[in-house]
Amino acid sequence: MSDKLYIFDTTLRDGEQVPGCQLNTVEKIEVAKALEELGVDIIEAGFPISSPGDFNSVVEISKAVSKPTICALTRAVEKDIEVAADALKHAKFKRIHTGIGTSYYHIHHKLNSNEDEIIERAVRAVKYAKRFVEDVEFYAEDAGRTGNEYLARVVEAVIAAGATVVNIPDTTGYCLPHQFGEKIKYLIDNVKNVDKAILSTHCHNDLGMATANSISGILNGARQAEVTINGIGERAGNTSLEEVVMTLKSHKDIPIETGINTRKIFKTSRLVSSLMSMPVQPNKAIVGRNAFAHSSGIHQDGVLKNRENYEIIDPVEVGVNESSISLTARSGRAALKHRLSLLGYSLEGEELNAVYEKFLEVADKKKDVNDEDLQLLVGSNKTNEQGKIQLKHLQVLSGKSTIPMATVTLNIGGEEFTATEDGNGPVDAAFKAVKKLVRHKVRLEEFLVQAITRGTDDLGKVHIQIENRGKLYYGFSGNTDIITASVEAFIDAINKIV
Ligand code: KIV
Ligand code: ZN
Repeated sequence: MSDKLYIFDTTLRDGEQVPGCQLNTVEKIEVAKALEELGVDIIEAGFPISSPGDFNSVVEISKAVSKPTICALTRAVEKDIEVAADALKHAKFKRIHTGIGTSYYHIHHKLNSNEDEIIERAVRAVKYAKRFVEDVEFYAEDAGRTGNEYLARVVEAVIAAGATVVNIPDTTGYCLPHQFGEKIKYLIDNVKNVDKAILSTHCHNDLGMATANSISGILNGARQAEVTINGIGERAGNTSLEEVVMTLKSHKDIPIETGINTRKIFKTSRLVSSLMSMPVQPNKAIVGRNAFAHSSGIHQDGVLKNRENYEIIDPVEVGVNESSISLTARSGRAALKHRLSLLGYSLEGEELNAVYEKFLEVADKKKDVNDEDLQLLVGSNKTNEQGKIQLKHLQVLSGKSTIPMATVTLNIGGEEFTATEDGNGPVDAAFKAVKKLVRHKVRLEEFLVQAITRGTDDLGKVHIQIENRGKLYYGFSGNTDIITASVEAFIDAINKIV
């Protein structure tokens, strides 16, 4: 029988500590609902004493979601615990997460205390939290750099005081995977009441080992993993949910399961990325734009013959529709043939060879050969050119206390059409106007705005993904006017619908 690993998501607490990524309460509720749909067991919704905004978010998230346990963070301080209990009053399942530093650095250079006093304070905090909620998690901050013997004393004391979960954070991301695994094993073997609580991993990524450390902890007996979507978090971030979940799912020999609906991973990743304005690095494991893109000829050929030749995860399993083959100078005939067939051209033999030769010439000059280039190569782009949509005119009205409006003129197949719409912002209004004019039914899947440099005169890059009849199309544009760039990127994506 397989064991269950509890997924404790701290995107809205540790993840949200990233400078510039703060969300308002409405946005946090949206993320919390997505996490509930994803199937996380516990949502750490905030640190209520830290600000009225955090307090309010914990209250509202407690009302908005009902399946996961809602958790609130505190220091080992009575006032923090009272405020957290108050913030959690509407939660169906609630947990207080209290704790204190246990490493030599924290005890002596931060808390000006000593080892015995820290245990007393830890026990007092857990007992106090127990007055308000049954489910109390204790964190031993900087456990990664805490000696195992002392850590075992702390863990035993807090479990005796009633802690249901004990969190072993590698706060500074210092541990090596074998050390972190040994730490968990030491606790399992040496804390006599350890069976009364669940041990949890909470690994930071300062040395790029957060996932490896979490997996090592899990293999050694931890049954809760603290994670964030896309691995966001302080400094180099936290362990990413998608990496832990897909590692366990891919290694069928590990008899540990999570309750995560993996097909919702990609969607949740993009929601968090766009709300927090934190682009996902293209090569990010599982959720990066290139995670399932193959560019070398040998790999492309292998994937086309059998996906499992070069993919350990079926992209569909994480909610990505299909692996993408990007055409570059290193692509082979098989990849070109496959892409052409998606565009409706079935070329064989000499005909394919001729197009392949032309393709290599273009690919030497361009990093990525796109669908339009291919149509030009095949010499059949005329129909598409005629049907191609061009942005002719865009005017927006926006500002404080103004209803955002946009007027868009598009040239479609040589004729001009104009529409005016309002929206919740100028981009929303302009997209609505474009949608009114084009015949394709499209849904926005991803919308990412990035500044290239740092000044106000900066060029903004916009990446867009839209969905039409179950297929995804990607659009891009760069412009000093971010609204124009957004509309151009939207149209670029629509133009890809052949
Ligand atoms: O990294 C850490 O130690 C934490 C604790 C507050 C749980 O985030
Ligand atoms: Zn942390």
